Amino acid sequence: MKRLIVELALLVCLPVGWVSPSAAADQLSSAEVRRGKYLVVEVARCGDCHTPLNDKGEPVTEKWLQGTVLLFKPTVAMP
Ligand code: HEC
Repeated sequence: MKRLIVELALLVCLPVGWVSPSAAADQLSSAEVRRGKYLVVEVARCGDCHTPLNDKGEPVTEKWLQGTVLLFKPTVAMP
């Protein structure tokens, strides 16, 4: 349970810069870091919406998870 809480906290805090990746990695085993990367990259695909794209529509890897304007909008007005 504690491990799940750490993983979820890193999922939320790493992309917005509340925790630096190197400081977070110091606290965790490499297996936990690999598991977190798998969840962010493969399962939740956070970078699909939070990484800027270049002119060809490819993700700009040096700006991974640094935020961007989304390519889609809600289909109905959102309050
Ligand atoms: C399908 C696109 C999409 C994916 C995938 C996605 N997000 Fe988001 N995310 C958004 C949108 C849209 C918002 C803005 C929501 C709003 O403002 O109401 C947002 C907001 C956020 C915020 C709040 C940012 C702020 O400054 O308020 C964080 C943190 C965040 N996402 C982290 C993540 C993480 C971590 C993942 C992967 C687990 C993820 N997102 C995956 C679209 C996405």
